[in-house]
Amino acid sequence: MQNERIRCERLRNRVTTADEAAKLVKDGMTVGMSGFGYAGDCKSVPFAVARRAQREPVRVTLITSASLGHDIDKTLADANVTARRMPFQSDAGLRRRINGGTIMYIDQHLSEMVEQLRAGYLGDMDVAIIEATAITECGGIVPTTSVGASADFAARAKRVIVEINLNMPASLEGMHDVYVPIDRPYRQPIPLIAPEQRIGLPFISVDPEKIAAIVFTRANDTPTTLLPPDEITQRIARHLNHFFVEEVRAGRLSPSLQPLQVGVGAISNAVLHEMADSPFEDLQMYSEILQDSTIALLDAGKLRFASACAIALSGPVQERFLSDIDRYKSRLVFRPQEISNHPELIRRLGLIAINTALECDLYGNVNSTHVGGTHMVNGIGGSGDFARNAHLSVFVTKSVAKDGDISSIVPMVSHVDHTEHDVDVIVTEHGLADLRGLAPRERSRRIIDHCADPLYRDALRDYVKRAAAYGGQTPHVLEEALAWHVQYRDEYTMRNPSSVSGCLAEPELA
Ligand code: COA
Repeated sequence: MQNERIRCERLRNRVTTADEAAKLVKDGMTVGMSGFGYAGDCKSVPFAVARRAQREPVRVTLITSASLGHDIDKTLADANVTARRMPFQSDAGLRRRINGGTIMYIDQHLSEMVEQLRAGYLGDMDVAIIEATAITECGGIVPTTSVGASADFAARAKRVIVEINLNMPASLEGMHDVYVPIDRPYRQPIPLIAPEQRIGLPFISVDPEKIAAIVFTRANDTPTTLLPPDEITQRIARHLNHFFVEEVRAGRLSPSLQPLQVGVGAISNAVLHEMADSPFEDLQMYSEILQDSTIALLDAGKLRFASACAIALSGPVQERFLSDIDRYKSRLVFRPQEISNHPELIRRLGLIAINTALECDLYGNVNSTHVGGTHMVNGIGGSGDFARNAHLSVFVTKSVAKDGDISSIVPMVSHVDHTEHDVDVIVTEHGLADLRGLAPRERSRRIIDHCADPLYRDALRDYVKRAAAYGGQTPHVLEEALAWHVQYRDEYTMRNPSSVSGCLAEPELA
């Protein structure tokens, strides 16, 4: 079994234990690790590094494709291994240290991170640790459930550790399409013209001499734990579906829509689930990460093809997927994140991008990352890649959070990830605000009427009225713009904002 998974004979003598392999990771190094949204992370060597850090200092800059499962981020943070971290995470323990200022976190667009590495902005990469299904005859690494940035980690790192996961079926081989643009000035246009097209190799190409250690593991990806669609997420999904139906009726979209990108999280998962009951047929996805809803749509015959850089599934769906790969193989492809999230491809393919906001403001600016403008949740991930370049950029959010104490529609977002210029549509359970072609003053009316919770509508209208008196293309009462956030910080509620109804003197009309 082990020999079948290492088809390059001369590499077979590099098999070792995780603890031995972990010795290649030394204090002060930059380490690249596979793993994207819990998919395809390394399940053995990171823990051996954490064990070593109990005996000697091993502080590293940790660069991954995106978030890791198996509490790897927590384990490494607790063991004081992680000094710097990029480009995305979703771990509560790591988040605490990031917000406490003890771990430096660089929250980076996923498509761009690889370019920064290639350009040398991030320094040299010392070691790459990559989960694999197999090693080919020529030493190529066949990834597992994510490709992410692994190809570039392998190319840039001085030494590579491969973790071959025997729980991953050998039949995963053939699902990957690894295309790495060549360096400038010789770079060519990326020749991808349709989501189902293959333009690269089915493995990660690497100089076999750099493979310094091979470790065998047996563990599944951490199952995702998405809440099932509830009444609120279903209402959001229905508003969006109705909008698409009207777009088709108006001739602006075809009945198979345009390639879909759907971000992580319960709401976007529900949006995609709801499409099983929609009139749309022959759908395609060109996304970053696939969730349970993708499998449901494939099974329902609604989805023709899905391209992404990773697949992260709940326990039962993961089991079904891994035991029946051949059923999905011709309809799925996994690519490097540089290709799945590439701005030029997103624009050219005309994607419909659906991502989640923490909060939106009256003019359509979106905060997806920072609670109260200061505290990191996860990171921007690929949402910026998609929102900025999509044909249609949609943001979904519940209208309130924390039992109504937070309004997700606020006068001014406390942190901006996606500017008003990149946001076409906002959807909450109350309705959908189509912002295309609207000026800021028109946008504010539509967002309040269609998206804000009734609990906060009067306060928002009052703010807009008083802001208008100051004039401007995008009116604000600057002294009050973040007052709702200040009130939440101090009183744990935005209800009855103290700024309403003239705390400040009525301004002179412009
Ligand atoms: N202020 C403070 N907290 C808020 C909030 C707000 N305006 N809006 C939501 N929250 C809280 C929720 O109460 C919840 O807290 P809890 O975990 O303590 O219950 C948490 O934020 C998550 O909210 P939820 O509604 O469950 O949304 P989600 O799981 O879909 O996650 C994001 C939402 C924005 C955090 C998530 O989508 C994300 O990280 N996005 C950025 C990356 C991205 O979009 N990638 C896209 C390409 S895959």
